[in-house]
Amino acid sequence: MSAGTDRYGVIGNPVAHSKSPDIHAAFARQTEQALTYERLLAPLDGFASTVRALIEQGFKGANVTVPFKLEAFALAGALSERAEAAGAVNTLKFDGGAIVGDNTDGMGLVTDIVANAGVAMRGKRILLMGAGGAARGVVLPILAQAPEQLVIANRTASKAKELAERFSGKGAIAACDFESLQDSFDVVINATSASLSSDLPPLPARAFAEGCLAYDMMYGPAPTVFMEFARQHGAATRDGLGMLVEQAAESFHLWRGVRPATRTVYDDLRSKL
Ligand code: ATR
Repeated sequence: MSAGTDRYGVIGNPVAHSKSPDIHAAFARQTEQALTYERLLAPLDGFASTVRALIEQGFKGANVTVPFKLEAFALAGALSERAEAAGAVNTLKFDGGAIVGDNTDGMGLVTDIVANAGVAMRGKRILLMGAGGAARGVVLPILAQAPEQLVIANRTASKAKELAERFSGKGAIAACDFESLQDSFDVVINATSASLSSDLPPLPARAFAEGCLAYDMMYGPAPTVFMEFARQHGAATRDGLGMLVEQAAESFHLWRGVRPATRTVYDDLRSKL
């Protein structure tokens, strides 16, 4: 490694599957930034000590993935507003001895929907399915788009209600279970973990308004069961690969002050899925 080359990486367990090193290497080539980006496997009980060792070695920052996003939140000495709102951190910046925590997941989702898919959220009816960590991470950036209403639907309705209450001062937000969903929506986002086990959340088909975009935060070589269901009911569909690339671009921007173009990186990843 030459002098002046800054080190970054993604901390996870497991982490071998992570596409982040390929994405950040492509961003670095494109923007001519001198940096390396590694996969960093941390022991399940050794997240904080791993971070401390990275700082010791001169790392400038790291992404954080499963299962450490809550620990990263707890470890950070300073938090961005969106990390605070998300209750989780996916991006760490090491600033001297300080550990700054941010969360770029929600911004990644919004950029992928608004800029890449070309679907505005302002004044629209948005349905967010799920009330776990993935859902919580995207609520504030969605509300920042000023939708007509954001409805959170969850199998366990009490968790959706808690989440909506947490953000009640930030915009028009409501919560319910799937069965009581009566309205239709312009954008329906699947933030449940159901797609991981090829399950379909019990969403009534009436939830898809005409011209609806159905977005699954999961991605893979084939459409998820939710995307298949949405397509059968007339919705356009998109998976979470663009969100992955956009959250990385936002982290890269935070670290380097340069915003990489994402389209070719996305196309390349898609062709290799
Ligand atoms: P994550 O960090 O991925 O959000 P999580 O915090 O465990 O994971 O949350 C998982 C979410 O997916 C929850 O909202 C869960 O619903 P419950 O709160 O009712 O458990 C939701 N979920 C998981 N499997 C589901 C399924 N088969 N159908 C509908 N919702 C499901």
